[in-house]
Amino acid sequence: MRCLLLLLFVLLASSQAAAQATLREAFAHRFVMGATLGDDHLFGRAVGSLELVKREFAAVSPENVLKWNRLQPRPGDFRFGPADRFVDYAEQNNLRTLAHVFVWHKQTPDWVFARPSGRRRSRDEVLVLLREHIDRVMTRYRGRIDAYDVVNEAIAPDAARAKPDGLRDTEWLRAIGPDYIEQAFRFARAADPGAELLYNDYLFHDPAKRRAILRLVKNLVRRGVPIDGVGVQGHYRLNDPPIEQIEATLDELIAELRPLGLTIRITELDVNVLPRDPTRTQALALRTLDEATTQEQAERYADLFRVFVERSEHLEGVTFWGVGDGRSWLNRLELEGKRRPVVNHPLLFDRKLQRKQPAYDAVIRAARANP
Ligand code: XIL
Repeated sequence: MRCLLLLLFVLLASSQAAAQATLREAFAHRFVMGATLGDDHLFGRAVGSLELVKREFAAVSPENVLKWNRLQPRPGDFRFGPADRFVDYAEQNNLRTLAHVFVWHKQTPDWVFARPSGRRRSRDEVLVLLREHIDRVMTRYRGRIDAYDVVNEAIAPDAARAKPDGLRDTEWLRAIGPDYIEQAFRFARAADPGAELLYNDYLFHDPAKRRAILRLVKNLVRRGVPIDGVGVQGHYRLNDPPIEQIEATLDELIAELRPLGLTIRITELDVNVLPRDPTRTQALALRTLDEATTQEQAERYADLFRVFVERSEHLEGVTFWGVGDGRSWLNRLELEGKRRPVVNHPLLFDRKLQRKQPAYDAVIRAARANP
């Protein structure tokens, strides 16, 4: 009898704990769950969400404060305040850190590529600027930032169809040439040999683009360029791409990259609930998340996390691009040819930072499936 009572007690207690488990706890044995912090989280109107972040997540990424335009808006004028705040918060709360990003075709000031006179800088000049920038940032945060997206989105879908290397036409490519990618990785390894160095990109499920990314990454590894892993941006929609395609894409990446010792992460996860080209009416219709879309999004998250969990031995982590719906980058969309504010609902927490229970529970359930 006493045994039975004890068993009942243990069962009750564990189901209680299950009901209250956070993402961080539920996924502790699977992979590292992370979220991005924007300016508002760090020092703006959403600082309150930092409490939630440390309860729910085990890792953080900076949405903007480690981008070049924020760290070094003018030559030699480093502004470390916001980035320091990000790193301090992570350190004080025992959160892992995945930083973002050194080399990207966006949010990089013009002065990096042109002198004040307007004359374009030489390859060597730009290489020196790149090395100095990476060096300043990585030595400052040595031992405190675990991993970096060193290069982001270097392959473009159209370029991948037009030429074998698939390289996007960027200022980096024009100024330095195709080896800008490997140079960035070498500078990064020299600046902090302990940090994990990643290549990050989106649209891996596009076959031409995936082939070009795999060719690039495998080529870097073959030539001894210090790259440690790949980040797969997860900016998904309710039904696009189909889950089978996401699954097949991950399996191919695992088969191609894991034998080379590279890590794989899902970065920038969100589920956009608006149609690809919404009309104004459609965008307005979703000002609050209706019941049907709430369920559809929960099912999408269930599918995504089933796929991630089934492959968890090959996944280092999953990072959401944001915390609550109210601060998501997807609240601005191309609408009738212009970028306009919309009301989107892509994440697991709503505008009041409450769990969106159907989607949230679906994710937690996925963590518990096939142990
Ligand atoms: C976005 C940020 O979320 C926005 O706040 C900013 O205005 C533009 O950049 N892919 C990336 C991220 O790699 O850096 C982008 O972040 C989202 C798409």
